[in-house]
Amino acid sequence: MQHKEKMVLLAGGAGYIGSHTAIELIEKHYNVIIVDCHYNSNPIVYDRLTEITGKHIKHYDIDVCDEQRLNQVFEENKIDAIIDFAGFKAVGESVAQPMKYYENNLDSTFSLVKMMKKHNVNNIIFSSSATVYGMNNESPLTESMPVGPCTNPYGWTKYMNEQILKDVANATDDFSVVLLRYFNPIGAHKSGLIGEDPKDIPNNLMPYISQVASGKLEILSVFGDDYDTHDGTGVRDYIHVVDLAKAHVLAVEYALEHKGAEVFNIGTGTGYSVLDMVKAFESVNNLLIPYKVVGRRPGDIAICYANSDKAEKLLGWKAEQTLEDMCRDAWNWQKNNPEGYK
Ligand code: UFG
Repeated sequence: MQHKEKMVLLAGGAGYIGSHTAIELIEKHYNVIIVDCHYNSNPIVYDRLTEITGKHIKHYDIDVCDEQRLNQVFEENKIDAIIDFAGFKAVGESVAQPMKYYENNLDSTFSLVKMMKKHNVNNIIFSSSATVYGMNNESPLTESMPVGPCTNPYGWTKYMNEQILKDVANATDDFSVVLLRYFNPIGAHKSGLIGEDPKDIPNNLMPYISQVASGKLEILSVFGDDYDTHDGTGVRDYIHVVDLAKAHVLAVEYALEHKGAEVFNIGTGTGYSVLDMVKAFESVNNLLIPYKVVGRRPGDIAICYANSDKAEKLLGWKAEQTLEDMCRDAWNWQKNNPEGYK
């Protein structure tokens, strides 16, 4: 069932995944409001979204943790559902500055839930991560596997927020929580107008490859080639960000129709190695990516990919875009925006 005209608030919605989700929601006739302090996003994205959708997006440039100002957003708008994308996401930084992560990532969710309770908003979708599965589960990962222990504070904040939201759902009549465990989102909207714009030197593989391709970075470091995988390099489940965005629309529909808490893996079910990714990027875009093999990155696991059958069964969602689509769209964004949104 579609829920035209319902109002969805995207917390941290100006970022990479939020901005792509805004488009998909608008295409399905939802009303969208974005709340974002632009710690890790650029307000230019609103113009780009207007260019793509033909719609002006109402936005509040405030920190979700600022309860007073968030309260005003809830007072001024009749919100039906929240998607909580807000949070810091750099794994390495979270190890160096754990308090920064625990404070911000938990506070932002607390602040949203408090306002939801106060204003009688009962539906929340939370951006979780495959990182909650920790190091002890074997892929393909299914939602029924035990979570934790996580390998870094960022992962623990996802783990803790999942638990908090489940507890709130248990304790509150008519409350609905959908936890989406993302695997590795890459690629960009096909317009090339929006995409991933890392704050500093990218931590993640695909933006790093893209910046080597554009000449901004010199050479890719491949973190280890001695894993127990088909070519020795780490295997991950890369998913097109537009497929991921579509999962959010279906999650909102699900939340509006069901009560309680539910968790879904959002991945393709296929794992590719670092070298598979380099080769695919080179061949789709007709480019060469210089790389060197270096030591393993602490905290990395050999293999991580999803079983997403539950999302297919209950949400009616399945990844549609191929590895070639992901590599083509990632490069289309990078080549058109070599400095990101700047
Ligand atoms: N890699 C390199 N060189 C790089 C960057 C990455 O070889 O410069 C390798 C990694 O070692 C890994 C693979 O590429 O094997 C993917 O690494 P990413 O950093 O792109 O992604 P991760 O799987 O480590 O982490 C991602 C998200 C996290 C999330 C996690 C969930 O960034 O937020 O998936 O599993 F927690």
